[in-house]
Amino acid sequence: MNIFVTGGNGQLGNSFRKISANYPQHSFTFTDMPEVDITDLESLRTILKNAKADVIINCAAYTDVNKAESNEDIAHKINAVGPGNLAVVTKEMGAKFVHVSTDYVFNGKGNTPLKECDPTSPLGAYGRTKLSGETIVKEVGCDAAIVRTAWLYSEFGNNFVKTMIRLGNEREDVSVVYDQVGTPTYATDLAEAIMHLVNKGIKGCEVYHYTNDGVASWFDFTKAIFKLAGCKANLHAIESYEYPTPAERPAYSVLSKRKIAEAGASVPYWTDSLEKCMKILLAK
Ligand SMILES: NC(=O)c1ccc[n+]([C@@H]2O[C@H](COP(=O)([O-])OP(=O)(O)OC[C@H]3O[C@@H](n4cnc5c(N)ncnc54)[C@H](OP(=O)(O)O)[C@@H]3O)[C@@H](O)[C@H]2O)c1
Repeated sequence: MNIFVTGGNGQLGNSFRKISANYPQHSFTFTDMPEVDITDLESLRTILKNAKADVIINCAAYTDVNKAESNEDIAHKINAVGPGNLAVVTKEMGAKFVHVSTDYVFNGKGNTPLKECDPTSPLGAYGRTKLSGETIVKEVGCDAAIVRTAWLYSEFGNNFVKTMIRLGNEREDVSVVYDQVGTPTYATDLAEAIMHLVNKGIKGCEVYHYTNDGVASWFDFTKAIFKLAGCKANLHAIESYEYPTPAERPAYSVLSKRKIAEAGASVPYWTDSLEKCMKILLAK
């Protein structure tokens, strides 16, 4: 199949590039801004039709959660209008669509793993725009898998793991919140899980949750990173009010992976995947 990836220079897009050689039966095209702008419907239509895309995987997004608070219009265009455009062309072409969404569609006030059917209620602009994207994709009615994920890290771009390795080596003291819990998720594992859905066949519109397995706070995550990287900084657990940010974060972001695991996707434990990524990062 011809698999067309948007946002190919981001964390997840690069993770698809990394694993694409594992799927010699498919032909992958990786694109990003400025050549392929998902907010431009007319040019998307031409590009996707020329590429004869069978499957479109949307890794493009406005992901700066804090800046989204003051740039909601731009975030909406990229996170909602863009996926809507991709869904429209997918439907016109009779192709399949994979759209990636987020735990931020929930308010984080629960304490049991969040299922795909649980009520959404975003706390901020980023979550609102991503939820609008999901709604528009569903309304278009193409064959689509909407995959919500959380706490992504990888070897690529800027992310929490890289920031903490740097701070853990530079600073004497590092303070990290311990009252927000979720599951750190290796983007390579997410890309493999999405390829599993693609190979199985996407029919109708289904929402899936995917993260790695287990539960951790940002403090636990940092402690594991420091241990693997041999960082000497003293690590302190703080509460969210001690680290105010423009965007409010959900306190409880653990997603239930039951549906995607029952579909046969692999869900490795978060520390096992962190070790794999850190091995690559520390060898650089
Ligand atoms: N990172 C996380 O912790 C996290 C958590 C939950 C869900 N997610 C979701 O997972 C997906 C992948 O995230 P990620 O971390 O890989 O994001 P990322 O690293 O920020 O990559 C997003 C890519 O999309 C590109 N892009 C922005 N606007 C575009 C447009 N109009 N047309 C085409 N490409 C555009 C970006 O280019 P520029 O860099 O030039 O803007 C960037 O290369 C997103 O849907 C995100 O919402 C991420």
